[in-house]
Amino acid sequence: MQLTVPRRPLRALAGLTTVVALGLAGCGSDDAEEPASGGSGKKAEKVAVLLPDTKSSTRWETQDRPLLEKAFKDAGVEATIQNAEGDKSTQQQQAEQAITNGAKVMLLTNLDSGSGAAIQANAKSQGVKVIDYDRLTLEGQTDYYVSFDNVAVGKLQGQGLVDCLEEKGAEKPAVALLNGSPTDNNATLFAQGYNSVLEPKFEAGEFVKAADQSVPEWDNQKALTIFEQMLQKENNEIDGVLAANDGLGNAAISALKQRKLDQIPVTGQDATAEGIQNILNGDQCMTVYKAIKAEADAAAKLAIALAKGEEPQGVNGKANDGKRDVPSVLLKPVTVTKENIADTVIKDNFLKREEICTGKTTAACEEAGI
Ligand code: BGC
Repeated sequence: MQLTVPRRPLRALAGLTTVVALGLAGCGSDDAEEPASGGSGKKAEKVAVLLPDTKSSTRWETQDRPLLEKAFKDAGVEATIQNAEGDKSTQQQQAEQAITNGAKVMLLTNLDSGSGAAIQANAKSQGVKVIDYDRLTLEGQTDYYVSFDNVAVGKLQGQGLVDCLEEKGAEKPAVALLNGSPTDNNATLFAQGYNSVLEPKFEAGEFVKAADQSVPEWDNQKALTIFEQMLQKENNEIDGVLAANDGLGNAAISALKQRKLDQIPVTGQDATAEGIQNILNGDQCMTVYKAIKAEADAAAKLAIALAKGEEPQGVNGKANDGKRDVPSVLLKPVTVTKENIADTVIKDNFLKREEICTGKTTAACEEAGI
C-alpha cells in the first residue's frame, strides 16, 4: 500500500490538538454533534490519541501523527491527536479534556506507567476504552496493546553491534551501553533483547563492558553529557556503543566528533532521517526500522472497531503488564544498514530520498544506490 504523508514541522506548543476528521455525519443529519460513521454503516464514537513528546524521538511527530491522522481520516472517524511534550500532568489534562469532549476510545503512549495507569483508571471509570500505543502501561487497565516485538528490537541492536565490531576486527572491544528511559517499559524490553546477545560476549571475555547507563526520558542532551562522561572515564577507549535509539546514538556520535575520535560502531532505532544519514556517513552502524505505518494502521483499526462497537481484528499475541496478559498486536522490526536502506525505508516511502540525500550525504547516497 502506498504511503504518502505530508511532512509537518514539529509542533512546539504543548497541548496542540488537531481534529483529523469530522467524519461523515449520519445521512441527512444536520446534527453536527452526531458521531461519525466509518463506512460500515455503524456510527463511530470519537477517538483521542495522546502522544508523549517531541524530543525523545522525531518519530512521534514526523511519523506517528501524520500516519494516525490519515488512518482515521480515511475511515471517516473523528479523532483528535495531542502531544504532551514530555509533561505527565499535561497528558493527564489532555486525557480528561478529551473525555469531556466526548472521546470514547483512547490511544495512549504513556510517559511512565504510573501516570499512564492513572489516565486509564479515569478512562475506565467513564466507560472509555483504551489502547496502549507503542508503550505498555505496567499494571494498568488498557484493553489492548499495539507495538513491535520490543525484545526482538533489542536483539537486532545487540546483533547489529556484534556484526559491526566483528567486521572491524575489533579485539576485546570496550562497549558502552546507552539505555533508554528507565520509566519506559520498552527501554526495559530493548535492554532485555540486547543484553541477551551482549552478556554472553562479556561473560566469555570477548567483549568488555566499559559503561552501562540509562538516559532519563530518552533526553538526547542528557545522553550527550552521559556519553562525554563515559569517554572521560575510559580515556576515550570505547570501541562500540549500544545506543537504544537514533537520538541517543547521535548524541554519542556528536561527543566522539567533538573529541575528534575515530568512527566506531554505534547502534540506533527508529530509522530517523538523521540516523540514516549517520549510517550513510559511516558514523552509525545500524538502526532498527519499525514500520510505523503498520503500527499506526493496526492501532487505528482496533480503535475504529471499538469506536463502532465491533469485534476488534488483528490481535496476534499478548503482553504481560505485571498483573495480567493484555491482548496485543505485535509487529516485526527490521535491521537497517547501508546495504538495505534503499530496499526498506526508501522503498516503503517511510523516508524520502530528499530528506536523506542532502549536503555531505549526497555522495554517500549515490554510492549506496539511493
Ligand atoms: C519507542 C521508540 C522511541 C523511544 C523514545 C520508545 O518507547 O518505542 O521508538 O525511540 O520510545 O521516544
